[in-house]
Amino acid sequence: MPEPRLATALKDTAIAVQAELDRLIPLPATAEARVHEAMRYALFAGGKRLRPFLVLASADLFSVPRPDALRVAAAMEMVHTYSLVHDDLPAMDDDDLRRGKPTCHRQFDEATAILAGDALQAMAFQVLAESETDPDPAIRMELVRTFARAAGADGMVGGQMIDLQAGNVTYDLDQITRLQNLKTGALISWSVEAGAILGRATPAERSALAAFGLEIGLAFQIADDLLDVEGDAASMGKAVAKDADAGKATFITILGIEGARNTAAELVENAVARLDLFGEKAFLLRDIARYIIERRS
Ligand code: IPE
Ligand code: IPE
Ligand code: MG
Ligand code: MG
Ligand code: MG
Repeated sequence: MPEPRLATALKDTAIAVQAELDRLIPLPATAEARVHEAMRYALFAGGKRLRPFLVLASADLFSVPRPDALRVAAAMEMVHTYSLVHDDLPAMDDDDLRRGKPTCHRQFDEATAILAGDALQAMAFQVLAESETDPDPAIRMELVRTFARAAGADGMVGGQMIDLQAGNVTYDLDQITRLQNLKTGALISWSVEAGAILGRATPAERSALAAFGLEIGLAFQIADDLLDVEGDAASMGKAVAKDADAGKATFITILGIEGARNTAAELVENAVARLDLFGEKAFLLRDIARYIIERRS
């Protein structure tokens, strides 16, 4: 369990993001409603809301108005959820359980799951581009530009492409690091950087936060891989032992369990050191960084 002040902040974020997503994706009474239902099903199945938490905690360093930060946090969660919906498809990891519920394609059907993912991604960019997100179009454009890069072939999608090829090949540490930086690090890093963009951070502040995000993103994926080995499906809300079954190269296949755990801990300490320039007010980012490698779900 997270420390009380982090637990409270995580819970508050989850509630606020839920309300924002609910507002942004209503359920129409028209013929296409099924895709909205599937989007809402995938979004509201649960999830830790880690990435929205990072957006809000980072934005708070710069006293960004909460409604603006919440829209960016919701956009982030839409793209993350889309990535999970597609990751679970038969053509990819072929999973039946996600966030403790049947995967989107199991609950609906494959075509609907594909469309729901597509629509979540498009909706995320719509939300960023709308004037309610920030009064300055240059800021909105910077959010859209950097998010597109983090989500696309130079980010998450590129990482997923390499990951799909990671069965029964031998990647070295550098190659695995690159894979994970793209697959998971890019979106987590962007979550933290987005707060800096909204907050008109100095270049030094923004790059410290992006680097912090990349390091905790890598640590987060190492923790996911460790939980795939050591966790249980009930607390994870998704199947475990998938990576070994797929013969997938991960940090654990290269470094072993202890090595992977130590690497994750080092990454977190490096990341936390980057927050020094923000002083005490970065306490929630420090808390979450330390928590992500201790989590059990
Ligand atoms: C799962 O992400 C996919 C990875 C990048 C490891 P999360 O563990 O954040 O999933 P949710 O959002 O809590 O379901
Ligand atoms: C997927 O990684 C990360 C994404 C970019 C969606 P995994 O395939 O390891 O995620 P889980 O374990 O299914 O959540
Ligand atoms: Mg996968
Ligand atoms: Mg998967
Ligand atoms: Mg995994």
